[in-house]
Amino acid sequence: MRLSVLLGLFIVCALLLATVTEGCGPGRGHGRRRPPKKLTPLAYKQFSPNVAEKTLGASGRHEGKITRNSERFKELTPNYNPDVIFKDEENTAADRLMTQRCKDKLNSLAISVMNMWPGVKLRVTEGWDEDGHHSQDSLHYEGRAVDITTSDRDRNKYAMLARLAVEAGFDWVYYESKAHVHCSVKSEHSVAAKTGGCFPGRSLVHLENGSRKAVRDLQPGDRVLASSGSEVSEELVYSEFITFLDWEPTARKQFYILGTEAGANLTLTAAHLVFVTEGNCSAPSAVGKAGMRTMYASAVRPGQCVLTAGPGLRTHLSPITWVQIRVDTGAFAPLTHHGSLVVDGVLASCYAAMDQHHLAHWAFEPLRLLYGWTGWAGSPQGDGLHWYSWVLRWIGTILLDHTHFHPGGLGTRDTES
Ligand SMILES: *[C@@H]1O[C@H](CO)[C@@H](O)[C@H](O)[C@H]1NC(C)=O
Ligand SMILES: *[C@@H]1O[C@H](CO)[C@@H](O)[C@H](O)[C@H]1NC(C)=O
Ligand SMILES: *[C@@H]1O[C@H](CO)[C@@H](O)[C@H](O)[C@H]1NC(C)=O
Repeated sequence: MRLSVLLGLFIVCALLLATVTEGCGPGRGHGRRRPPKKLTPLAYKQFSPNVAEKTLGASGRHEGKITRNSERFKELTPNYNPDVIFKDEENTAADRLMTQRCKDKLNSLAISVMNMWPGVKLRVTEGWDEDGHHSQDSLHYEGRAVDITTSDRDRNKYAMLARLAVEAGFDWVYYESKAHVHCSVKSEHSVAAKTGGCFPGRSLVHLENGSRKAVRDLQPGDRVLASSGSEVSEELVYSEFITFLDWEPTARKQFYILGTEAGANLTLTAAHLVFVTEGNCSAPSAVGKAGMRTMYASAVRPGQCVLTAGPGLRTHLSPITWVQIRVDTGAFAPLTHHGSLVVDGVLASCYAAMDQHHLAHWAFEPLRLLYGWTGWAGSPQGDGLHWYSWVLRWIGTILLDHTHFHPGGLGTRDTES
């Protein structure tokens, strides 16, 4: 009886949480992007991967136009790479504006172009579009698409240029016209969700005897400072460290640093969850079920409040005063019995990639029970990802991908630019 309940719970969790369990990657699942020995040019009108642009397997759905006045305008960043030529026919530098992911892929493509054809550069004819020149829902409106050629405008090169764009990691490449290749990328938000959440190895957790320990040195049985409930409360407890959901000691990743007024700074990857509250941090109603919610680290803004550890196992709300981004080495996702932990003096969730801490906590209940019964919960596999995360992800992929997650309708030929 107990077992069947567990199994049911397990499957439902997997359904809900397919994405929670992604590791801190990037890296995994991109193996096929490694340059093969022989590069095959794309055929005219071919697209890669061979699914519609705005489906999950390619660049994902559109998330709405970005204009200069919209809040999301700050998601766009200008690309001043001297190895890329921007046509800029609008004379507004709009073509230079793109999402960070689009910029990364473009810069990487610029290098392959120069290697493939010495003396030739990558040229962008269309980037972000603020003038409505494209069809409705085009990813150009979100800075997620570029139309490219080579600087010598030699059309014989474009089929190979399309192949290089695929190899550079664009999420969808289309040899759209004899005059250009269209490339697009997933939204930052969906990428953050896929890349999971981690802390850098040297971040410190608090042990029961008052000393601190680096996250990377945690061992099963260590008891670390955490929040007492699966919902946040003002009380702190010492919670048993169970295992690492992700363990990548040498990975270099981008981390968000959230600086608080109290002086504690929390460092974590974009998709990791933090407990925050809006508004007046000193109002008594701010903590507790009503006030606190979980949010991706990348969505946290100055002025919001996080919980910092104070004396006597109590938390205090402290406003975020600044947010920075830094690259650091080592990425670790520790799981504690209570599903949360205090890192560098700030309370964070153990979970990532789904902004529902309590659901994630529920999905890991079977693993906690297993650990409770046997004292064993396994450890991360060779690729750094825990087996339980891997199983959840696998079940989630099989069941979820084909039922829920296809807003654009996989297989519909949607080849607009
Ligand atoms: C606290 O406990 C850890 C291991 O649990 C140990 O390594 C450390 O020396 C202890 N610190 C103190 C001050 O007792
Ligand atoms: C947090 O960051 C600020 C600014 O970089 C620094 O002055 C402060 O010492 C840091 N706090 C801790 C506890 O390291
Ligand atoms: C915040 O709340 C506290 C306590 O309720 C109150 O004294 C203070 O004036 C409030 N501050 C602001 C800016 O509203």
